[in-house]
Amino acid sequence: MKKQMLVSGGAGFIGSHVTVELIEAGYDVLVADNLSNCDMTCFEGVKQITGRENLPFVQMDFCDAAETERLFTDHRIDAVIHFAGFKAVGESVEEPVKYYRNNLESFLNVIESARLHGCGNILFSSSATVYGEPDQLPVTEEAPRQPATSPYGNTKQMCEDILRDSVKAYSGLRGIALRYFNPVGAHPSARIGELPRGVPNNLVPFITQTAIGKRDCLSIFGNDYPTPDGTCQRDFIDIVDLAKAHVFAIRRMLEDKMEENYEIFNIGTGQPLSVLELVNAFERATGVKLNYRFAPRRPGDVTAIWADPARANRELGWKAERAIEDTLAAAWAWEKHLAGE
Ligand code: UFG
Repeated sequence: MKKQMLVSGGAGFIGSHVTVELIEAGYDVLVADNLSNCDMTCFEGVKQITGRENLPFVQMDFCDAAETERLFTDHRIDAVIHFAGFKAVGESVEEPVKYYRNNLESFLNVIESARLHGCGNILFSSSATVYGEPDQLPVTEEAPRQPATSPYGNTKQMCEDILRDSVKAYSGLRGIALRYFNPVGAHPSARIGELPRGVPNNLVPFITQTAIGKRDCLSIFGNDYPTPDGTCQRDFIDIVDLAKAHVFAIRRMLEDKMEENYEIFNIGTGQPLSVLELVNAFERATGVKLNYRFAPRRPGDVTAIWADPARANRELGWKAERAIEDTLAAAWAWEKHLAGE
């Protein structure tokens, strides 16, 4: 019998790409989402890409303990991949209670129901934000976590700790936290991608919306950082590459290959790219000239961060493969698809 994965928050940007890769790797997937920050566009896209017209979808809120419990009663679930959560850094500063309540409560409910139903495998979507401004680059999983600068970042740290402690306490439970660097791009089919509501916070959606004419001009936040060209450096990881890492992590859990019951992996390319270099790569990849200007630094941004992905390369057998130009061309194809072009 095929193993069944529960993908919480599976209608969103990362969740939909992971769902595609899980199905293509031969798993059954149950997608659950409360659609609070997305619509069914990506879920429909997943069905098209995979040809699974009957892909199961449950609209539900993991903050509701009874609903979560019912989901586990109604379905056999072999592993959970938990994405459900709010993710806007700025909003989390303005509405901390909303962020703590949503991001912690949903995860606590998932862990509680999973263990009560004998589902021992939990994969948590963490973030490089837990490292703050790192002392050493590239950053390894051993680097100390810095005090979070936003409630959002704090929920990532707290969820990591909740998973670590739960795994220690409850036998039969094991967990993996994947720390994503900067996920960008879209599926090559252009059927799923990022769908920000309102003005995008993140760089690549802002770039593609500027290129298509939805925004006048990209502001590059800061060109006076102590970096080679003065703009911030990040580790931009292709969303499909990132999604594939989940398949390797799930396999490691299901095949009992974990060395410890709780493991952490950086999911990044290991290659720094500056904001300006990314803009240039976009222009090269698409032939579109981008209107941009330099603007003051954005509060809270770290100067530079990129991954040491050696542990994931070695232990998961996973490696980022896609060239940034291909990633950005895919993001552009997705933006044009949304515009009906
Ligand atoms: N940037 C711009 N202009 C924009 C948007 C972003 O210059 O319009 C710059 C930022 O200043 C930063 C870089 O592009 O230097 C990347 O910014 P993003 O917002 O795309 O990504 P971040 O590195 O800020 O965010 C990542 C994750 C978040 C996570 C955050 C925590 O995408 O989920 O790290 O630091 F919360």
